[in-house]
Amino acid sequence: MKCLNIISITAILSCLISQTAFTKEVNVYSYRKPQLVKPMFEVFTKKTGIAVNAVYAQKGMLERLRNEGNNSPADLIFTVDIGRITNFKTAGLVQAIDSEALNANIPSNFRDPDGFWFGLTSRARVIVVSSERIKKGEISSYEELAQSKWKGRVCTRQGKHPYMAALTASVIATHGSDQAKIWLTGLKNNLARRPQGNDRAQVKAIYSGICDVAVINHYYMVKMLADPEQKKWAESVRIVFPNQENRGTHMNVSGVSMAKFSPNPKEALLLMEFLASREGQRLYAEKNGEYPVNADISPNPLVKSWGNFKQDTLGLGEIANLRESGVRLADEVGYND
Ligand SMILES: [Fe+2]
Repeated sequence: MKCLNIISITAILSCLISQTAFTKEVNVYSYRKPQLVKPMFEVFTKKTGIAVNAVYAQKGMLERLRNEGNNSPADLIFTVDIGRITNFKTAGLVQAIDSEALNANIPSNFRDPDGFWFGLTSRARVIVVSSERIKKGEISSYEELAQSKWKGRVCTRQGKHPYMAALTASVIATHGSDQAKIWLTGLKNNLARRPQGNDRAQVKAIYSGICDVAVINHYYMVKMLADPEQKKWAESVRIVFPNQENRGTHMNVSGVSMAKFSPNPKEALLLMEFLASREGQRLYAEKNGEYPVNADISPNPLVKSWGNFKQDTLGLGEIANLRESGVRLADEVGYND
């Protein structure tokens, strides 16, 4: 008790307060941007008195965790896309969690069957089309992107990017490798330009008249509509939720895992459970444009206005298993050439 060496009573009191204010803490490594998770952490701290210390980065978390080994201060890893999430599991850097609350609040297709990761928000990979040049109903599935009527009219990002590799993995899961290869070859042959840029760049390309159809994650529409410069790009397209007549629209997640050597596992589990609870999920829905994984909670009003749609319930674990095959197919068909 360092405080006892202090003479003044007020100094002792303030010293004790500073020592006890946040004796409990959770250390977070996050690939998610601060504005997407910090508001939830603040509510959690207010409710529980448990501090959340977060490190934010764009890359290098896996290497950092590996280098720190069992001295790592990390309790929880926040990341996006099933490919990146499962990399931590494959590298043996996260631990399995068996929590009744997590299992009850997160549908089984949005979490690891072995408990190594849990989806917290979901995103739909939608087709966007030029509102001006494409009539309603002209395209309604991922499969149609490979039809010759779209020759020279489709834009996508690179085929090996995790978002595209996951979509290809879902096509492999549905139709098998051979059919998926024919599909990806057809899609490649329909590209208006060499695959390039991020999801927003595809919408800009439709706005600029370079192509008529693209594939993007739905929340970029929310972001572009809120951006003065990009609003006109978003307003030039219409969203199509693909494959409503059959398996539904391809979904992915942002998720959380507990680090293998988590020094504060109890507090970390409380934070995970809070984020998956109705309250946590409601906060996610308010603060960003993603879908809550808990189906009882509505998305934000703009996203809700796009209507309900059928989601592909293919387990993300299966997509994770097939995503390497998706990357290989992109190479085989020379998607990025
Ligand atoms: Fe993204």
